[in-house]
Amino acid sequence: MRNRKITRRQAITTASIGTLGTLTRFPLTSFSLNNSNKLAIHGGEKVRNSAWHEWPVWETSAENDVVNMLRSGRWWRGRGEYIAEFEQKYAALMGAKRCLATASGTTALLVASHVLGVDAGDEVLVSPFTFIATYNSIFINKALPVFVDTDPETFLINPSKIEAKITDRTTAIVPVHIYGLPVDMDSVNSLAKQHNLKVIEDACQAWLGEYKGKKLGTLGDLGCYSFQNSKNLPTGEGGAIVGNNDEIMDQCYSFHNCGRPYGSVAATSNYPNRGSNRRMQQIQAITLLSQMSRIEKDADVRLVNAQYLDKKLGKIPGIVPTKLVEGDNRSAYHMYPFRFVSEQFGDVSRDKFITALRAEGVPCSTGYGKQNYDGLIEEALNSRGYKRLFSEKRLKQWREENVLPGNDQLAKEAVTFYQSILLGSKSDMDDIVNAVTKIYENRNSLI
Ligand SMILES: Cc1ncc(COP(=O)(O)O)c(C=O)c1O
Repeated sequence: MRNRKITRRQAITTASIGTLGTLTRFPLTSFSLNNSNKLAIHGGEKVRNSAWHEWPVWETSAENDVVNMLRSGRWWRGRGEYIAEFEQKYAALMGAKRCLATASGTTALLVASHVLGVDAGDEVLVSPFTFIATYNSIFINKALPVFVDTDPETFLINPSKIEAKITDRTTAIVPVHIYGLPVDMDSVNSLAKQHNLKVIEDACQAWLGEYKGKKLGTLGDLGCYSFQNSKNLPTGEGGAIVGNNDEIMDQCYSFHNCGRPYGSVAATSNYPNRGSNRRMQQIQAITLLSQMSRIEKDADVRLVNAQYLDKKLGKIPGIVPTKLVEGDNRSAYHMYPFRFVSEQFGDVSRDKFITALRAEGVPCSTGYGKQNYDGLIEEALNSRGYKRLFSEKRLKQWREENVLPGNDQLAKEAVTFYQSILLGSKSDMDDIVNAVTKIYENRNSLI
């Protein structure tokens, strides 16, 4: 395993150097656009006319297993040999002792938080720049999400702002490896240790991402993943928890299986623990097993292409690729993110830039918005339960401290490409670079 990993990493490095060796300095006038240089948004010819890499990609090799499983009647976890096989293989791939498959990434977060003791009236430190499920998993446990501002350069929780947000109610930190970008886990873990907090990694977008040579999701107390349809390892809906502590993983199993006894969770009664049904189905596991045949190769292609885009796009004024935190890290690139700084791009607004880029045939989106002001926050804080659990003084202070300038900046500047775009060829990446360059060169026509 270790030898294979070194080989892969060496291969990536070689490929990266090879592809990046031919870079030119900005302005990139070396490409020629066949017809007019008029922007497609203004009726000019698109830079890109062809389709991008499709996603997800069904593996026909899974079809026999699907039919056999359906005919066998073993559709659920009870005697679910495919689920057990997936758990064993996914744990090995992540370098974790154990894996528990769950119905989704959200359920993985719910199980992990419950088992690690996040309880009603607790506070949980969390990154605001994430999919809303991260917030919901805290609210559903009747705890208070306390947002730690984002570092706009890394798109991640700013570790220097964590300590100020810890109170005597804080029980856990949920660092989110958003888009697959590795959080500075040394800082998070050391603060957690100092203040006796649990660390639940939201690695729902971070399969095979690495921090200092370890897979994301294996650095905290528990790590949670999503296998929803859009994900780099997809199965429609699905999730997993990984961990190295047998007792904690037994508790996770028990909780996700209605609180029944499991392993070290003794059979003192039929249902010794509270629990829920968060189980995966067999068909999800069969799909995952087949999708795992491509995940490492795909991750390498995304990495090489992302590094190529970093170098090329980073030369265009106003386009700022993400900064990886210190360490020998790699991102999983669920999205390829960058910041669009309007003032450096002739004051073109981000929305105009995105519309113009889409018109050139390059699909792109914004990042997450200012969700720390989203409706669910006040809906929760004004609920009967939260008013019982938290004093008026604490909720007032929470609202006053819900000021996150780094996150606001990112909500304004982030632009993303979906992961499957990164599965294309070098010439596909050049289409992206050419489209952005064309828009930059014609920026005055967008004002
Ligand atoms: C960062 C993050 N956390 C949690 C989730 C929840 O996962 P799921 O949709 O599988 O429930 C997602 C899914 O998109 C996610 O991206």
